[in-house]
Amino acid sequence: MFDVAAFRAEFAFFRHNPEWVYLDNAASTQKPAAVLASMQQFYAQDYSNVHRGAHALSQRATALFEQARTDVAAFFNAKSPAEIIWSAGATGALNQLAFGLVGSVLQSGDCVLITTLEHHANIVPWQFHTASVGVELAVVPLMANHHLDLAAYAKLLAEKKPKVVSFTHVSNGLGHVTPIHDFIDLAKKHGAITIVDGSQGASYQAVDVQALDCDFYVCSAHKLYGPTGIGILYGKTAMLEQLRPLCYGGEMIKQVTFAKTTLNQLPYRLEAGTPNIAGAIGFAAALNWLSQFDFTAMAQYKQHLLSQLWHGAKAIPGVQLLSTVENNAGIVSLNLQNEHPSDLAVLLDQQKIAVRAGTHCAMPLFQAIQQPGAVRFSLAPYTTVAEIEQTIDAIAAAADLLA
Ligand SMILES: Cc1ncc(COP(=O)(O)O)c(C=O)c1O
Repeated sequence: MFDVAAFRAEFAFFRHNPEWVYLDNAASTQKPAAVLASMQQFYAQDYSNVHRGAHALSQRATALFEQARTDVAAFFNAKSPAEIIWSAGATGALNQLAFGLVGSVLQSGDCVLITTLEHHANIVPWQFHTASVGVELAVVPLMANHHLDLAAYAKLLAEKKPKVVSFTHVSNGLGHVTPIHDFIDLAKKHGAITIVDGSQGASYQAVDVQALDCDFYVCSAHKLYGPTGIGILYGKTAMLEQLRPLCYGGEMIKQVTFAKTTLNQLPYRLEAGTPNIAGAIGFAAALNWLSQFDFTAMAQYKQHLLSQLWHGAKAIPGVQLLSTVENNAGIVSLNLQNEHPSDLAVLLDQQKIAVRAGTHCAMPLFQAIQQPGAVRFSLAPYTTVAEIEQTIDAIAAAADLLA
């Protein structure tokens, strides 16, 4: 059994904001004490810049920073810490990938296959970074239930022969879970490089990158109880070696003369500039803290909440559910018939229920399902049954008011 009270007690946010129901976890999660303490300790006691320092303080900071990489690599079961590249977040990692694969992997006329569920971070970098060589972007469509169409995916792989397949683990707009094992296996049969955007997936399922056998996996710390401004680009070593760095400068070089520069080895080759040291330490603290909880029990608990909210909302006249209750990582997106999503979100905000309304950085998804956007309720293991009851009542009251 998952102990929600014990989990929730780790987050000071709820003690400081007892009147709020926080259902905006897909945008960012709250931070447990372990993360705050690790960053406070680093800045207060252990702070120094990393790498090449002649003094012991720098060596100590370097050891903490590299231990963070080792911890994150262990959490995702990467083969080696050098397969973990720090990025500013999932967006930074996906930009590095789209830019970095041009030339070595992507040539003029090649195809990159993405899906209708993608966040803009997995659409726009492909459009802009590959424009110079003229790469085609193909898109896996949705079925009527707003889940990805596996048969259409298989057909696109055969027809378009994409060099790269890049897809989200979990849709941030709807919560729908991609069958990533099938997606990766099929892509590999067609010889495509696989990229998984784990921004929403890494908090839902324990991710083992070796078992998945994807080539790249990216995510942001702030959606996994860690700090903002840090994330990872995981890649198999041979794959990372193929990437052209997006940023150049200090840290990522071996030798510089005015005539010529040679680049450093992995992971540093892809980490130009002073890194986000405290962010890396905070991210590792978040994952080390999270490791004490059973992911399956957390997912089951979240599924229970999801079902409660989904069925509660379904019973309210005028509610149009866009998410399914099955294969869903913990998001209910809905609209009130004939109302703009913002109207419901504003009424919920007045009742201190924090949700997000709009197109959730996934405009093409909402174009595909012909909706102006949605009101998104995103759950976390610290959400309580009482909060869901309160939310259902608040949606019903808002629906009454707007009717
Ligand atoms: C599926 C998905 N991909 C990418 C991102 C971008 O993450 P970040 O803004 O942390 O870089 C998000 C954030 O909402 C997301 O949900």
